[in-house]
Amino acid sequence: MKLSTLLIAFLVVALIAFFAIVPPAFSQDGAATFKAKCSTCHGPEGQGKVGPAVKGTALAADQIADLLTKGNDAKKPPHKKPMASLSADDAKAVAAFVKTLK
Ligand code: HEC
Repeated sequence: MKLSTLLIAFLVVALIAFFAIVPPAFSQDGAATFKAKCSTCHGPEGQGKVGPAVKGTALAADQIADLLTKGNDAKKPPHKKPMASLSADDAKAVAAFVKTLK
């Protein structure tokens, strides 16, 4: 076997290993989730847009995660209902991220 073939084989294995490990870390990245699913309404810095500001919210992180995963009938849409396509881990991560916004 040529050295270059070995090198390519090694690179392929390394790439597969990389992508096998990285996606879960990505989907729990609160900042990325916020940007993708919340910033249209709450603004990229949580300063508020269509929805109210979430930075400096009085809610605790677990209350935010609950609001997102379970919904709250007393709230206006979209938080009346659980947010679709948001796993419990994503909700926790994004809630923790919201608490970092100041
Ligand atoms: C379609 C627009 C929209 C999207 C998308 C959205 N929100 Fe909201 N959000 C609102 C509105 C409107 C309210 C106010 C609801 C009310 O008070 O009845 C709100 C309220 C909240 C509150 C409560 C703030 C407080 O201090 O009481 C939090 C926390 C929150 N959103 C977090 C999020 C997070 C995190 C995401 C992304 C996973 C998200 N929202 C996505 C519109 C949106």
